[in-house]
Amino acid sequence: MSVTEIVPGLEGVPIAASAISRVDGQNSLLEYRGLNIETLAEHSTFEETNFLLLYGKLPTRRELDDFIRDGARHRRLKYRVIDLLKCLPEHGHPMEALQAAVPAIGMFYPERYHPGTEQKRLSCLRLIEKLPVVVASFHRLRTGDDNLIPRPDLNIAGNFLYMLRGEEPDPVRTRILDVCLILHAEHTMNASTFAGRVVASTLAHPYCVVSSALGALSGPLHGGANEQVLTMLERIGSPANARAEIRRMVEAKEKIMGFGHRVYKTIDPRAKILKKYAEQLCRRSGSRFYDIAVAVEEAASEVLSDRGICPNVDFYSGLVYAELGIPRDCFTSVFAMARVTGWLAHWIEQLEDNRIFRPTQKYVGRSGESYVPIERRG
Ligand code: SDX
Repeated sequence: MSVTEIVPGLEGVPIAASAISRVDGQNSLLEYRGLNIETLAEHSTFEETNFLLLYGKLPTRRELDDFIRDGARHRRLKYRVIDLLKCLPEHGHPMEALQAAVPAIGMFYPERYHPGTEQKRLSCLRLIEKLPVVVASFHRLRTGDDNLIPRPDLNIAGNFLYMLRGEEPDPVRTRILDVCLILHAEHTMNASTFAGRVVASTLAHPYCVVSSALGALSGPLHGGANEQVLTMLERIGSPANARAEIRRMVEAKEKIMGFGHRVYKTIDPRAKILKKYAEQLCRRSGSRFYDIAVAVEEAASEVLSDRGICPNVDFYSGLVYAELGIPRDCFTSVFAMARVTGWLAHWIEQLEDNRIFRPTQKYVGRSGESYVPIERRG
């Protein structure tokens, strides 16, 4: 079948058959392997959701215990990876540190080139368990603190908060971060997942797949929006300023960060869940940002929702992360340490029925040109 017209951003173009997740953008619905996101956020954990996404079914108690125990064994970083993080400029962005560290981590494992079942399992466990450790370690090292040894007794969310702040993680905050990781773990064929599938289709190893996906996620139109939402709320400063500033931005054709989505034309179901946690945490801390965010959401929805431009996952996630004590420039890295599971599930799925991605183009350049010697060029 040949497509003759260029489709900007491949909007609406199916590029693979996938059984991992489903989004119904008209009805604010997101399912992982057929289970809706509200149910998973309420009843599941990030570790259980990882098993569901990677293996296509909820684990038995024994399977989950083994998965968690095996995962915790692969949490530590090689000291040379920590040395690499120490060499990176402290003013570099954490997403750049993450994208630098991931291929370096892979270099220690020769089996990365042989995706047999056991090798795939090990690659998935290592990447899922080590990304949060890289994020926390880079932050501690860039601020002059000692790096901490990961704790196998804590879940991924708890160990991340422990390594980031160097204190016993609060159970309420740990559970909220655990839910955030569930919400961000997978989302059909978004830009970073597509980037990962293209690299997977060349049979590059999973550390390259994740590194390419990290590059795509780092952009402000994709994973980088959550940081910018908080900057916008800070600039607006109070609920009373929201309406005028939003109208100014819309008239100036400035994008409202945290709003709009290629698929959702109603509110993103993840935004609804995150809004609840943002309120809970801001009421607990006395932060004024929740009230500002709600005023911005109302003002932006007034002028944008009739065009299907509604709050997306990034609108409240930054507020939640700030209240969890996560540094602002680490917000996208927290998105990445959740989405790595989705990228790996798509890597596995791509290899099951692979054909290298090689689209075509519509040539609009010149042809049959003559070579003009440099001395005769104008
Ligand atoms: C994520 O794909 C996924 O699943 C991604 C994600 C995931 O889990 O992986 O859900 C995570 O990336 C969420 C999105 C985070 N990004 C932002 O919040 C950045 C702000 N949003 C926009 O840049 C935009 O909405 C996108 C990038 C998210 C979607 O862009 P589209 O589908 O390409 O839409 P578009 O840019 O072509 O916009 C269509 C119209 C334009 O107006 P016109 O030129 O037709 O007049 O809608 C307007 C846009 O200007 N518009 C907005 C807007 N988003 C779209 N106007 C104001 N504010 C916005 N946020």
